[in-house]
Amino acid sequence: MAILPITIWGEPVLHRAAQPVTEFDAALRALVADMFETMEAAPGVGLAAPQIGLGLRLFVYDWTNPRDGRTIRGVAANPELWLSPVVPFDVQELDERAETEGCLSVPDEAYPLRRAHRVLLRAQDEHGEPYELEFEGWAARIMQHEFDHLDGVIYINRLDFMTHRKALKEIARLGFKGGTWTPAPVDAAEGAAAG
Ligand code: NI
Repeated sequence: MAILPITIWGEPVLHRAAQPVTEFDAALRALVADMFETMEAAPGVGLAAPQIGLGLRLFVYDWTNPRDGRTIRGVAANPELWLSPVVPFDVQELDERAETEGCLSVPDEAYPLRRAHRVLLRAQDEHGEPYELEFEGWAARIMQHEFDHLDGVIYINRLDFMTHRKALKEIARLGFKGGTWTPAPVDAAEGAAAG
């Protein structure tokens, strides 16, 4: 297994739609194992193939809910995602603490974003076996964030007007223009909420 370099905002593969996974072979399973290792080292709770430079419709996720200790962990190839309606701000104000997310491809940044509360994921695992799962809350957010990566959409692209402007300024200030960064091997690192 290996820790792979993670692509940074500006890298073209992050900003274009990915192609379906067609081969469910040993090479794909080795890739998935590397993606899990990379995600763990980052650390993150989700990682999509474009984030390791591959335009494939594939992501991995691994998150433990601190409230009940339940873990979601899996592989989603060729996913489809259905969302519950997004609650508008005038119905429920944005809770910046609870609704702020980050992305391993926009390192050390985090911005608030309203997401759908519930999702239905249909995907194939690393053996090509189809499955269907429902998620809610933060788990649903992870699915939406990773799914977006497969369409070349980064959460920054979904921010409200003022926050988006602020984020782009910050990205320019930090000088993110593509390339990669490589996480250090894990030394019992605590999980962070990035994907
Ligand atoms: Ni991300």
